[in-house]
Amino acid sequence: MKGELLLLSSVIFVLQVVCACPEKCRCHSSSSSVDCSQQGLAEIPSDLPPQTLTLHLQDNQIHQLPAFAFRSVPQLTSLNLCNNSLSNLAPGAFHGLQHLQVLNLTQNSLHSLESRLFHSLPHLRELDLSSNNISHLPISLGQRWENLTTFAVQQNQLQQLDRALLESMPSVKLLFLKENLWKCNCHLLSLKLWLEKFIYKGGIMDSVICASPDTWKGKDLLKIPLELYQPCPFPFPGLQASQLQPLGSAHWAVPSPPESDSAGEPDHAEYELKPKPRPANLRHAMATVIITGVVCGIVFLMMLVATIYGCTYAAIAAQYHGGPLAQTEEPTKTEGKELLDSSPA
Ligand SMILES: *[C@@H]1O[C@H](CO)[C@@H](O)[C@H](O)[C@H]1NC(C)=O
Ligand SMILES: *[C@@H]1O[C@H](CO)[C@@H](O)[C@H](O)[C@H]1NC(C)=O
Ligand SMILES: *[C@@H]1O[C@H](CO)[C@@H](O)[C@H](O)[C@H]1NC(C)=O
Ligand SMILES: *[C@@H]1O[C@H](CO)[C@@H](O)[C@H](O)[C@H]1NC(C)=O
Repeated sequence: MKGELLLLSSVIFVLQVVCACPEKCRCHSSSSSVDCSQQGLAEIPSDLPPQTLTLHLQDNQIHQLPAFAFRSVPQLTSLNLCNNSLSNLAPGAFHGLQHLQVLNLTQNSLHSLESRLFHSLPHLRELDLSSNNISHLPISLGQRWENLTTFAVQQNQLQQLDRALLESMPSVKLLFLKENLWKCNCHLLSLKLWLEKFIYKGGIMDSVICASPDTWKGKDLLKIPLELYQPCPFPFPGLQASQLQPLGSAHWAVPSPPESDSAGEPDHAEYELKPKPRPANLRHAMATVIITGVVCGIVFLMMLVATIYGCTYAAIAAQYHGGPLAQTEEPTKTEGKELLDSSPA
């Protein structure tokens, strides 16, 4: 009897653990999704069903995430934290979310993000950091995001974005960058070049409108002529010559206006563009011309010799055999020609 009671109570306990739904949430077991949105929550509910795949926590007042905040829902593939008061994310906040594919952090109060904050999310496909107050994104935000296709950081306080961060997302197709404080100086040159390549490969983005310096305020970064970046250290590593050529690499030597000043890097010379492929091409072309000339000359000479030989032979033959009348004129003609031709030789 005692044993049965124990069994019953443990079954009830297990059922509770499996089917439990936090007080302020609605749990949809069929879709393994849990909706805790608009509940005035200040923190993550503690008793979330462990099999949860989709978790809606938007429109609450959650202001911070401790390390391992989602330890109880390791299967999560989609997490929505939009419109909360998040200003502080502990470095290990997303640890344990091996399967997360969509992370929405839009409309919060994030100022900065820890480097490696998203290192535990290798399978991310969509990351939305828009409408925060982020002024800097670390290069090493995530590890290589093989499948990240959407990256949104519009409506923040970003002045620059490191190309290396974008290069950690080789599959990115959608980029949202507008409404930041883009500072269109030398630092943005590598971003500009990266974005041109991104669009060329079919990527979709909004726009990067410069907020400073004054000369470029309100201008689209992608519409500033590349020539005006001449004093900038050239981001040579990783750049393909094929990308530059249509933009006119030779024009980098053109003197530029003083706008793109605040570079401050002293090592310009190191990066100066030397159009290396050109001399090789030129040499190749010249060699081709010379060879063609020589071959044509030889062929022409051979033809000339053959003609002279043929005509001389015909003339001699005509003289010996006293050919038909019709041919009497020709030998004299060819004889004269033969003379003319052979005399200089
Ligand atoms: C954000 O959440 C609050 C409740 O916390 C809600 O009143 C407000 O309408 C939400 N804002 C948006 C833009 O959805
Ligand atoms: C990327 O997506 C493919 C296809 O869905 C999947 O097989 C692969 O495991 C994913 N890789 C990562 C790192 O998520
Ligand atoms: C994040 O949530 C907002 C508000 O619901 C939505 O507009 C946006 O599209 C979402 N972002 C992604 C990447 O799904
Ligand atoms: C965040 O940025 C908005 C403008 O985008 C600004 O109104 C707000 O005061 C900022 N909040 C903080 C806490 O800095």
